[in-house]
Amino acid sequence: MQKSTPKKYGAVAVTVHWLTALLIAGLLISGNRMDGMADSAAKAQLLMIHAPVGVLIGLLTLFRIFWWWRFDRKPEPVGTTSAWQERAAQGVHVLFYVVILGMAASGIGMMVLSGAGEIVFGGAPGPLPDFGNYAPRAPHGIGAKAMVALLVLHAGAALYHHFFLKDGLIWRMWYR
Ligand code: HEM
Repeated sequence: MQKSTPKKYGAVAVTVHWLTALLIAGLLISGNRMDGMADSAAKAQLLMIHAPVGVLIGLLTLFRIFWWWRFDRKPEPVGTTSAWQERAAQGVHVLFYVVILGMAASGIGMMVLSGAGEIVFGGAPGPLPDFGNYAPRAPHGIGAKAMVALLVLHAGAALYHHFFLKDGLIWRMWYR
């Protein structure tokens, strides 16, 4: 079942959700390793993965927005959540989209403005520039912290449903 039903998410939404989660974990880890790294060649190697995966996740998020807008409809709220919890969950979901798109845009901005794109992908001679000298670096760092805060709220709510309310909510975001 590709589309969602009133009771659960469809296969497309489930796949995009878990793929996004996996890729964001990889981006947060590789990004944190790069932050403050002195070895330019090692940082360039990480960027060779970090940058395309970051672009991919931006595209995946645009696809996700389009998918919900044109093709699919979210399942109904579960009976165990109150109105404010539903609103909070929706707010977190929207903020995820905003932060992901902002991270992708600021990442691309850093690479283009600093000329690092040509060093990492175009064979231009290094070393890498100091990204701190370029305006998109600050929002990229703030976005990373916001992303972690959203993940804590989002995963915390899912675990609360699973272990305290025991309402099986997590299985709505799986294939069976
Ligand atoms: C959702 C997408 C992305 C996430 C979650 C992410 C995550 C991160 C994180 C956590 C950092 C370290 C920030 C800090 O600790 O202050 C970082 C740094 C960086 N990211 Fe991303 N990133 C994303 C997309 C991108 C894209 C699309 C590009 C390039 C096309 C990119 C290029 C960079 C660069 C150049 C740095 C700076 C490294 C430095 O300052 O030495 N990122 N990223």
